[in-house]
Amino acid sequence: MAENFPLPRTCPYAPPPAYARMREQAPLVRATLPGGEAWLVTRHAEARQVLSGAGISTNPAAPGHPSGALSAEPPTPERDAFMEEFAVGHFIDLDPPEHGRFRRLLIPEFTVKRMRELRPGIQQIADELIDDMLAKGPEAELVEAFGLALPSLVICRLLGVPYAEHEFFESRTRTMVSAADPGTRHAAVMEIRGFLDALVTKAEADPRDDLLGRLVGGGELTHGEIVGVMFLLLVAGHETTANMIPLAALTLMDHPAQLAALRADPGLWPMAVEELLRYHSIADWVAFDRVATEDQHIGGQLVRKGEGIFVLGASANRDERAFDRPDEFDIGRSARHHVAFGYGVHQCLGQNLARAELEIALRTLFERLPGLRVAVPAEDVPIKHESPIFGLKTLPVAW
Ligand code: HEM
Repeated sequence: MAENFPLPRTCPYAPPPAYARMREQAPLVRATLPGGEAWLVTRHAEARQVLSGAGISTNPAAPGHPSGALSAEPPTPERDAFMEEFAVGHFIDLDPPEHGRFRRLLIPEFTVKRMRELRPGIQQIADELIDDMLAKGPEAELVEAFGLALPSLVICRLLGVPYAEHEFFESRTRTMVSAADPGTRHAAVMEIRGFLDALVTKAEADPRDDLLGRLVGGGELTHGEIVGVMFLLLVAGHETTANMIPLAALTLMDHPAQLAALRADPGLWPMAVEELLRYHSIADWVAFDRVATEDQHIGGQLVRKGEGIFVLGASANRDERAFDRPDEFDIGRSARHHVAFGYGVHQCLGQNLARAELEIALRTLFERLPGLRVAVPAEDVPIKHESPIFGLKTLPVAW
């Protein structure tokens, strides 16, 4: 029998409960969506196989791509026109070789060396946000005051987007990832793109030394492509990390022995960050929508050309075949082969930035607020059950 998909999470520390049963059953299971059917990939090895990309497309315009099946509404001319405009420069949705044209231009901006250079700036942002919390304390709402503010400030500085506009783009991003109605989501996207369009026009008239300035000055992308690239970087660069920071802080407060180990030996932070990414897999399947472009066998299952596929990242990261005791949170494990950042050609471009942000944010938070605790009973922490990118709605804390 086909599984219903998507499924909500019911616990902040676990993927949807049906994932474990489906993973046990088979590496690929059939699912019924509001507007069609698709394969779900449940295991780690097959997840990597699909994400590595051979005979697979990520392009929503490819025949049989499953993104449209997430809605019961049939496509309309308005939706098709929106998708066409949205696709320009949105390279996460492009296949090689076109995808490589964008990726090659951006790789130098996100190298390990470049991220090392950004660390003092990230540290300064974390310290200033905590100064502010201390000045207003001894209580705060961690999502707004820290979790969202830190990555927004960092990505704005990196891209050359004015942070003064953060409430505008943060609220539109929230609508874009959570609104049920496609029209509302599309309107939010177009508002952000309109704002970025004006910013690109300004940068074309007035050369500048930031990522936007370099994209404009490089002359390799059209105006519309730069708007698309900036949109992807701005949205992917704040929404994901913003969900991860408060969720990670809650997890560590709930595992005091492991938090004590991190306080005693800050050299453990990089491994802890990998485990937090694996354990939560906040993006789960959200960017892992694919379609087979040729008949092929995946995990012994014949997948035909034109059949849609969703990789369940949160299931792959709990696969007993790839991780011992996968449901245990253990910062001592080697978790770096997780797929929380994907795998293959589309593997997260901002992963080194995200790692640096998470490590600095969490280490600084627990160092500077040694008495940090959750200010409400655990069951009252509101979680985003319904959102495709998992996280906490709010996290009231005290110190
Ligand atoms: C905890 C934080 C983050 C998580 C969990 C995350 C997750 C992911 C995942 C799963 C993908 C792969 C999508 C696919 O296979 O189609 C991806 C791609 C991407 N991410 Fe991230 N991301 C994070 C932070 C960031 C940051 C800070 C940036 C900064 C710019 C960023 C920019 C991107 C971009 C541009 C892509 C598309 C890459 C491509 O298609 O070549 N991400 N991310």
